[in-house]
Amino acid sequence: MSESVTILGIETSCDETAAAILRRNKNGDVEILAETVHSQIDEHAPYGGVVPEIAARAHADITDTVVVRTLEESGLDLASLDGIAATSGPGLIGGVMVGMMTGKALALAAGKPFIPINHLEGHALSPRLAEACSFPYLLLLVSGGHCQFLEVTGLGAYRRLGSTIDDAAGEAFDKLAKTLGIGFPGGPAVERLAKHGDPHRFDLPRPLMNRPGLDLSFAGLKTAAARVVEHEALDEQGRADLCASFQLTVTDCLAGKTERALAEFKSRHDGETRLVVAGGVAANQTIRAALDRVAQADGAHLIAPPLRHCTDNAAMIALAGAERLVAGLVDANGLSFAARPRWPLDEASAQSHPAYGGGKKGAKA
Ligand code: KG4
Ligand code: ZN
Repeated sequence: MSESVTILGIETSCDETAAAILRRNKNGDVEILAETVHSQIDEHAPYGGVVPEIAARAHADITDTVVVRTLEESGLDLASLDGIAATSGPGLIGGVMVGMMTGKALALAAGKPFIPINHLEGHALSPRLAEACSFPYLLLLVSGGHCQFLEVTGLGAYRRLGSTIDDAAGEAFDKLAKTLGIGFPGGPAVERLAKHGDPHRFDLPRPLMNRPGLDLSFAGLKTAAARVVEHEALDEQGRADLCASFQLTVTDCLAGKTERALAEFKSRHDGETRLVVAGGVAANQTIRAALDRVAQADGAHLIAPPLRHCTDNAAMIALAGAERLVAGLVDANGLSFAARPRWPLDEASAQSHPAYGGGKKGAKA
């Protein structure tokens, strides 16, 4: 397909109900015609984390309204779309089902293709919402549920180079914020407090940093930070110092492993090296700045999506749908796709070497 395509994207895998209409022009340029993100932060804030049942109900309440509002804003109707894409995994399954079923129903009613999208592929392609970013590139995907290095050589071609063996970095930010009682989501709250803190006050663990390979680990850091809160009577300055020390530790871990990942990536690919950082934690300014330094020192170019497209959004899902439609990578049986709570981008590596969390539902990463 060489014409421009217009896609409705729907995202409901965690705590944002989002819809977007995106046009991908013949030359690959992308235009977001309308975009809505409805956050459930207020509903989850009292619990200090996302409660799956509350999330699913909130998505069920509002997804149709969010889609209608987005369509109205774009000035288009369903008939003018070329396809409907919805996150169909991985994520909290109740929410995923709501978005996917909404997408399927609209596709069926309008006689358009339904395109099931892997949420992680959305993040992986998200830098392309703002600038051209050609394959191959090294991707650091760092969010609330995932933390991994991937070699991206094409649409749907992902090779896992390393992954957290326990918690995701965003999860650790959220846990620290919950322990300190400073708000939800944790990342932005910790970043705010860290601005006034001394990053060298607390010496926190940096697991796996002295081991070869590209795997990461944040569970020990998460527990160590929680212990400090439990055992030390922290005043306001102490809390800011802990946030700053924690943020520096995560930054050092990510930057250190990124240095190694770049070396490995460059050993296989000639020419200009692109490093992409995506996912909610990529919104953190200290982490972005450190990755930028690592990239520059290595002659590589850092590409990071604008802040609003780092966290969950539907524009990245619509983009993945558009790219798949143009590339002819859309299954004619989209309507029979079953939602997947776990859906690794590199399925082969996840099955042969599960980084963590095997089990009944399948490998996590
Ligand atoms: O990509 P995302 O919106 O959802 C997932 O797919 O997980 O990422 C959410 C995660 C949360 O853990 C949140 O605390 C973290 O990203 N996050 C941040 C920042 N903004 C969001 N972490 C650190 N610094 C930030 N500024
Ligand atoms: Zn996400």
